[in-house]
Amino acid sequence: MSRAAFAGTGFYVPDRVVTNGDLARLMDTSDDWIVERTGIRERRWVPEGMSGAEMARRASEMALRSAGMSAGDLDAIILATLSPDHFFPGTGVFLQRELGLEGIPALDVRAQCSGFVYGLSVADAWIRAGQYRTVLLVGVEIQSTGLDVSTRGRDMAVLFGDGAGAAVLTASDEAYRGVLSTHLHADGRFAEVLWGEFSSSKHHPRITPEIMTAGRHYPSMEGREVFKHAVSRMPEVVEEALHANGLTPDDISLLIPHQANLRITEMVRRRLGLPEDRVVNNIDRYGNTTAATIPIALSEAVHEGRLHRGDLVCMVAFGSGFTWGSALLRW
Ligand code: UT7
Repeated sequence: MSRAAFAGTGFYVPDRVVTNGDLARLMDTSDDWIVERTGIRERRWVPEGMSGAEMARRASEMALRSAGMSAGDLDAIILATLSPDHFFPGTGVFLQRELGLEGIPALDVRAQCSGFVYGLSVADAWIRAGQYRTVLLVGVEIQSTGLDVSTRGRDMAVLFGDGAGAAVLTASDEAYRGVLSTHLHADGRFAEVLWGEFSSSKHHPRITPEIMTAGRHYPSMEGREVFKHAVSRMPEVVEEALHANGLTPDDISLLIPHQANLRITEMVRRRLGLPEDRVVNNIDRYGNTTAATIPIALSEAVHEGRLHRGDLVCMVAFGSGFTWGSALLRW
């Protein structure tokens, strides 16, 4: 049976660098607090008017180039985001248009920080079923336009960045290459622990000046609660994947964790007993780019020459929903 293998990867981040010092001029925070609590030093924010679809296109073009393919080779698009350019239609169709394509399906995935891993699971299933052979999988996020950059919103505003990461997945018949398994989970009991409450189709009108004055259109998070769950669920779902494949942490060549907090990544790394050089960290430069985080980190690792044919790669994510999941693959 064919399974999904990575043929090419790419990423795009906006040129505009926002340092911790820049944020400290807008709100009561400091470089020391942000670095010590999160590991973040700077992040990228979009310039006015740049869309998620444009960032997704730039990342996709790099992925297609690295795969030696053109947009016309694609059979389907999967795009993961929690910050679509518009309420509807999904950003996937805008990306399709940006790539000059028409006709092929474009599916948006709404699984927040776990969106890329969820999307990979869908792409792999499509490819295994023989429905499509070449799938473009993108994670893209614009967080900056939705953050409260006053002291009221400082717990969220210092964490998030904008960016896009993409991968071209193709059907592989090689026994020693491609996705081995994906393990996905969710627990909606915690939906409101990290969420964007408004605008909301549950209410008529969906948003009011009063809601905006109260700041309820900004995302909100109970940080400690998310942290507590993330540090258990992430190693757990990596162990679940390893167990299902008869492997151990020692077999992992590179762990690509969702980048939410350097302290979370460190706790996951220690619990799995992995050395530092087998875990990807780029949160210091980009912050948390939600669904874009894993494909950006993957693409950087590939283009830095950190991955070799046959390596065992593990991706793991945890985020709003709660949703979490892991993917294990042979490079
Ligand atoms: O990708 C989605 C998943 N998201 C995550 O995984 C995030 C998980 N959570 C976290 O990473 C951490 O909880 C945070 C980085 C969000 C916060 O770190 P913390 O060590 O849990 O801090 P805290 O929320 O307990 O706040 C400690 C103090 C508070 O002040 P008091 O009440 O002790 O006086 C906050 O008001 O730090 C204050 N604080 C800040 N101070 C300076 C909160 N945000 C800031 C800030 N600058 N930006």
